Amino acid sequence: MSWGRSNRLSRIFDPASGRTNMLAVDHGYFLGPISGMRSPRSAITPLLPYADALMATRGLLRSSVDPALPRSIVLRVSGGTSIVGPSLSDETIITTVEDALRLNAAAVAMSVFVGTEHERQTLGGLAALVDEAGRYDLPVLAVTAVGKELGAYDARYLGLATRICAELGADMVKTYHADGFEAVVEAAMVPVVVAGGKRLDSVRDALALACDAVTAGAAGIDFGRNVWQSADPAATIQALRAVVHDGHGVDDALGLYERLAGQPVPAGR
Ligand code: 5RP
Repeated sequence: MSWGRSNRLSRIFDPASGRTNMLAVDHGYFLGPISGMRSPRSAITPLLPYADALMATRGLLRSSVDPALPRSIVLRVSGGTSIVGPSLSDETIITTVEDALRLNAAAVAMSVFVGTEHERQTLGGLAALVDEAGRYDLPVLAVTAVGKELGAYDARYLGLATRICAELGADMVKTYHADGFEAVVEAAMVPVVVAGGKRLDSVRDALALACDAVTAGAAGIDFGRNVWQSADPAATIQALRAVVHDGHGVDDALGLYERLAGQPVPAGR
């Protein structure tokens, strides 16, 4: 692997653990201002010290993230649809690789919609992005989207979508968790990170999801709503970090959450 690609990946996956505790804040690109992310700057700033990388759009970055804060950026470059439009899967590329390089992104991310009418368009788009980003050794994160057009999903579907992304050249794949997730990871060929999905019933459930994912071999998590829609986002992300990087089990991580919850975030962090 080239020095540049390796350097960028090491800004996402902590070399000590080989894993990432990525924070997803890109939801507004199709959902608009959802709960917990109506004021991105105030929501994100206290969480950044505990995230290895931030997954965001360029608009959110420029408006709401201090460029002096030393966090790696995984830049979402696909979109162009909305939750109120006719088809979420009809995404296109919304940000150039050139702009990603200007923003000093460590990687670019795009969604693919396997099994929808836009499967070919989004998978072809992924292959083209791999070519374009590859000119600069800029890694690509493929996101196997799920949602209203796909309905229920299982490890068989996620494994299929994940493997296709890797075959097309994605450096890493973000997907969802399902029973039997080991099989998804085993066949992926590249590092897999797990999205949190909709807010779960409790912090314990979110920690259990992260724990199951890394135990099954995931190279980390990329949670959004289960962090910044939780009762105490800063405590939640620190507890997730303990699972991802320090091998904490659910009970230990929940104990950490309970000790941290309600505490002010230290000044300067
Ligand atoms: C949407 C995304 C989001 O980043 C992803 O859903 C992760 O966030 P959450 O943990 O809230 O599901 O890629 O396509």
